[in-house]
Amino acid sequence: MKISASFLGVSNIAQTLRKLNVTDVDYIHVDVMDGKYVQNKTLPFSEYSTIPNYTRKRLDVHLMVKSPLKMVDDYATLNVAFISVHLDIKDKIDDIIERCHLYGIKVGIAINPKDDISSVYPYLEKIDLVLIMSVEPGLPGQEFIKTSLSKINMVKEEIKKRGLKTLVSVDGGVTLDNVKYLRDVDIIVSGSTITKSPDFQETITKLRS
Ligand code: DX5
Ligand code: ZN
Repeated sequence: MKISASFLGVSNIAQTLRKLNVTDVDYIHVDVMDGKYVQNKTLPFSEYSTIPNYTRKRLDVHLMVKSPLKMVDDYATLNVAFISVHLDIKDKIDDIIERCHLYGIKVGIAINPKDDISSVYPYLEKIDLVLIMSVEPGLPGQEFIKTSLSKINMVKEEIKKRGLKTLVSVDGGVTLDNVKYLRDVDIIVSGSTITKSPDFQETITKLRS
């Protein structure tokens, strides 16, 4: 199981990234919000483009935006492993998949709590990751929505049935208490649990164990 650390909501991004850089966390989860797909708005790319100045970790970019296609070109210039987009966007999902793969970036589809998990099934062969949102997108520090657990099981079954290698990730509300239910997940995204803790490495180690 890999861990992707989200810095959403921290007061000092540079300092948080430097602290994460010296842990064994696998990825930095970059939440991008446009104020349209979700109410909140994160910093523009001109600011996020400095992330590699503070960390050598590979990035796991989560685009909570209405028009992600043009952003793929921007984020492709960074040290990006994954770009995930939501289903209910203006661009065509197939165009996003094609563009990411052109850059050698793995692509994910994020499923909101209200979305049926089967809505991602038509894409399973073409994508690399399913990002199951276990909170409503938009804010850090929310409570884990338990129905996400059955979605994880269902999509894992479907992936296995089709003999695919598509990864499953879960994003939102992961704590040291509920992480035990998430052992089958390939990548766990964790924000507040890590960034609000006094010792990032200790928390990451506990999340893994
Ligand atoms: C929610 C974001 C998540 C979230 C994770 O919209 O996509 O990445 O910030 O933070 P925690 O772990 O605090 O829920
Ligand atoms: Zn996220």
